[in-house]
Amino acid sequence: MRPQDGRGPPRPGCQRIDSTRLEVLTEEGSLGEVAADLAAFALHEGQELPGDLVEAGGAADARPAFRRLALLHPPGGGRAIAAGAGSRDEIDAERLRVLAALVAHEAGRLGAESVAWAVPDSLPREEAAEAIVTGTVLADYRFDRFLTNGEEDRPSRLGRLVLADAGGLGPAAGRARVAAEAQNRARELQNLPANVATPSFLAERAEEIASEHGSVSAEILGPAEIAALGMGGIEAVSRGSAEEPRLIVLRHQGPGTGRPPLGLVGKGVTFDTGGISIKPGPGMHEMKMDMSGAAAVLESVAALAELEVPLDVIAVVPATENMPSGSATRPGDIITQYSGKTVEVNNTDAEGRLILADALAYCVELGADPVVDLATLTGAVTVALGSTYAALISNDDALAAEVERAAGSTGELAWRMPLHPEYKDLTRGKLADLANVAPKRKAGTLYAASFLEEFVAGRPWAHLDIAGVSWDVGREYVGDGATGYGVRLLVDLARRLQTGA
Ligand code: BES
Ligand code: MN
Ligand code: ZN
Repeated sequence: MRPQDGRGPPRPGCQRIDSTRLEVLTEEGSLGEVAADLAAFALHEGQELPGDLVEAGGAADARPAFRRLALLHPPGGGRAIAAGAGSRDEIDAERLRVLAALVAHEAGRLGAESVAWAVPDSLPREEAAEAIVTGTVLADYRFDRFLTNGEEDRPSRLGRLVLADAGGLGPAAGRARVAAEAQNRARELQNLPANVATPSFLAERAEEIASEHGSVSAEILGPAEIAALGMGGIEAVSRGSAEEPRLIVLRHQGPGTGRPPLGLVGKGVTFDTGGISIKPGPGMHEMKMDMSGAAAVLESVAALAELEVPLDVIAVVPATENMPSGSATRPGDIITQYSGKTVEVNNTDAEGRLILADALAYCVELGADPVVDLATLTGAVTVALGSTYAALISNDDALAAEVERAAGSTGELAWRMPLHPEYKDLTRGKLADLANVAPKRKAGTLYAASFLEEFVAGRPWAHLDIAGVSWDVGREYVGDGATGYGVRLLVDLARRLQTGA
């Protein structure tokens, strides 16, 4: 993606952010009829082993306890896994995503190139197919492009997933594959170090998405245009860095619905040192993930285009580093945001809200309705909700309910938290309209949301604080490191808004 400059060896970061490597097939035939290196099926409480597997070597070890795997050697050859799925009452898409991930990991250890899964009948068929595809594709992701040796010691990657008993499930499986592959690309952007995934790198990725999809166009603004527009938040945060900022606008023009475009805004801080209010050293390296919102927004637009979702989308991504230097913004500096509101920057580490304020106001001005933003905005959200739920804050009950439904169905969970006039009072500045931090660190996540609300001009808006759910979640299908949180949620949300369901 980044042009080679001819000096030194090629940079590993130059590889494309590649799509689709796992082939997904659906077959009408049963598990026994489908060819694959490894066959997998869910084993519920009270359920017999299917067909000839009763005779299989290892059959006595099969257990229905959720997450228990047993490797079977069928009399006719090959290998099968009985995946303990618990009681039929408790099975849901999330449990099936987990089982699919456990099976994919086992396949990697066994060196299997292909896996066949019997779609269980204990869930609605499309939901079950989507869950197996999602869990498998996400579990098969690795960030290994910088490892130059030891490949033989690492678990192998799958080439093919076949769903058995899956007549008519091709479209559902295909949708799930597209969304999960997009999520893996978002994870790749998150994982890439900040010396590779710079603001201009994100902009190039946006242009690449536009070049791959006829419905998508990209517009990239550089520092001069950002300054000329009066985007004082992006200007203030970027001014300490040698990397130029970018404001990325990516539009998907779905076949007309007559609805106003869905606005998506993603925080794109490619490295957050804290600036002059510098962060402590331990753990700072992980602040390369402070562009997780941007990654989710960009790749969800790619997925919506690939799925040809009939809804217009305007994505706005402010991309910058937050660095300390002689030209950096100082605590106490006063800036003017794109909307004209003035802000006392009392802590340069509260930078996300400054760039989002400009991006939200710009997105609203471009006509977006509703607007959803994703941002690794506060450490406080991890104190409140850990890595299980994102915080959802919204000025619109109907929109919040749609986001909660999308969160529930994708397993990208979100818990609604309140706006309140008393939180808003905390955002008032002494010397300017607003201050970017609360006096006593009260309600950090809700303070930040209240600050953002100042810039949406009353438009229906939902904010997802994803600082806790973007990294080191540890769930079976995303593991540690980047999770790509938000891609499947946004795709699901857009499909809900499109149908008005
Ligand atoms: N990018 C951080 C938030 C963050 C923390 C993301 C941990 C991921 C993991 C954000 O810019 C930040 O520094 N927030 C400050 C705000 C404070 C200065 C009011 C925080 O949460 O400490
Ligand atoms: Mn910060
Ligand atoms: Zn940050």
